[in-house]
Amino acid sequence: MMRITETADLWYNNAVIYCIDVETYLDSTGSGTGDLHGITQRIDYLAEIGVTCLWLMPFYPSPRRDNGYDISDMYGVDSRYGDHGDFVELIRVAHDRGVRVIIDLVINHTSDQHPWFKAARRSTDNPYRDYYVWRADDPGDTSDQAMFPDEEDGIWTLDERTGQWYLHHFLHTQPDLNTANPQVRDEIAKLMGFWLQLGVDGFRVDAVPFAINQRTLVGMDEHEFEEPHDYLRELRGFLQRRASGQGSAIMLGEVNLPHEEQVAFFGGENSDQLTMQFDFFTNQRLFLALARNDAAPLAEALRSRPTGLRIESQYANFLRNHDELTVDLLDEDEQDEVLDAFGPEEDMRFAGRGLRRRLPGMFNGDPRKLKMAYSLLFTLPGTPVMFYGEEIGMGENLDVPGREAVRTPMQWSSGKNAGFSTAKPSQLSRAVTHGPFGPEHVNAAQARRDQSSMLHHITRLAKRYRESPELGWGDVTVIDTEVPQVLVHMTTWENRSMVLLHNLGSEPTIVPFALEDLEPGTPLVDLLSEESCELDEDRMTRMPMDGYGYRWLRVANEDDHRLL
Ligand code: NOJ
Repeated sequence: MMRITETADLWYNNAVIYCIDVETYLDSTGSGTGDLHGITQRIDYLAEIGVTCLWLMPFYPSPRRDNGYDISDMYGVDSRYGDHGDFVELIRVAHDRGVRVIIDLVINHTSDQHPWFKAARRSTDNPYRDYYVWRADDPGDTSDQAMFPDEEDGIWTLDERTGQWYLHHFLHTQPDLNTANPQVRDEIAKLMGFWLQLGVDGFRVDAVPFAINQRTLVGMDEHEFEEPHDYLRELRGFLQRRASGQGSAIMLGEVNLPHEEQVAFFGGENSDQLTMQFDFFTNQRLFLALARNDAAPLAEALRSRPTGLRIESQYANFLRNHDELTVDLLDEDEQDEVLDAFGPEEDMRFAGRGLRRRLPGMFNGDPRKLKMAYSLLFTLPGTPVMFYGEEIGMGENLDVPGREAVRTPMQWSSGKNAGFSTAKPSQLSRAVTHGPFGPEHVNAAQARRDQSSMLHHITRLAKRYRESPELGWGDVTVIDTEVPQVLVHMTTWENRSMVLLHNLGSEPTIVPFALEDLEPGTPLVDLLSEESCELDEDRMTRMPMDGYGYRWLRVANEDDHRLL
């Protein structure tokens, strides 16, 4: 029998995660740059929406060639954002409001300005040399492996001083760490221990497949070969030991790979590696489904979720994040479909493989379609993750270069600088969005007063999601229906079930479906509207749906004591 108390232990299985770029959230000092104290002032706002876990993007000292993912001191706090005191205050206030905090852990690389790399490049026998990955022979053309092909023409850069090449999957200013080196591993463990001691509830682990990459571990390195996943297992073991006093801490990994390859990153049936992984595959199939107004690609993705994982392993769902919307797991034709549908102009694209847009721009601001998409986010089996500003429907600013287009200042009000900062507009670290999604039309202050706003919609979804742990915990079944544009899925956790309907098409329709395992007459109670129904004697129902409509139906059950 299921116990509600379990939801407190494995809290991440039905968390609502919210990602913040400190740089652009709220400037509390008038400097033009967001800061930690600014976030602390918005914890109540976030708690009110129903956010239960913040993910803070890198706030460490950094030359910021990659929005802070190029770290020069992993123990530090960039002085523009505040200091360790501000960090601890933020954690304390968040915890008091029932909000956990995870932070980015970047173990694949450092900045080239990190003291380790500065030392490493001095000579081939420097004690830090082996913290990074070097080769003496010319690597040849590796341009097909560069993650930022517009900026780098390969993954090895020749370092003049010692005449050897160093590995960097991302920018050449982000040398890859040699995670096969036991000293590097000790450093990373010590680092995790430090932030856990300051109270964080876990980590969003950057670029995991690269960080434990065979290339680093095999052949290229003098250390004895080891199965790369042993290293992830080691990290998880360490996390578990260090965090045992403060409730379970998590590692939410960025693993942009197909489902079958993600299994190994969870640790398969042992569940002893990453606690959570973003579901990039389902994300990309979801956009293909939306481009086609056809639920099938999304249904296939849900059906292809690995089975046999333990309840400790959890998927994180998202619509958009701080990076480009990547479509790299789709076939080439499918990629074109998504890019053409949501980013018809060249300027909306990034590195040929994705879109530097936020959702409202992609959907031409259609509020019905947007609301349906967020309903999907909260009902796809797993844990929803939002990027700041999504809750109010912020758009991108294509005038800002590259991926920064989606990382513009949070729009708090229609006032100066969108209420983000009191600095002169020319001093802002990033320009505010303008146009139809600019602050005069889209801002949090206005949204709070408008019952039909995206903010109220998200708040309502988050509430119902939190009281329906079967959404986060359950097993999913896709229910057959003859209406191609509608996804009908059911999630079941022990004696609790919900049936979810989403119309990806703009026209109203009627959706007949059967729930074979339930009794005739079973009531299906709509959690978001008055329109409940029950199964007929053939265990069928016919559900009317608006264009872009969505329904959250709880299967009523006498043993379930929740309010309906
Ligand atoms: C993934 C992060 O999300 C992205 O923003 C960054 O550029 C790369 N990892 C490299 O750290």
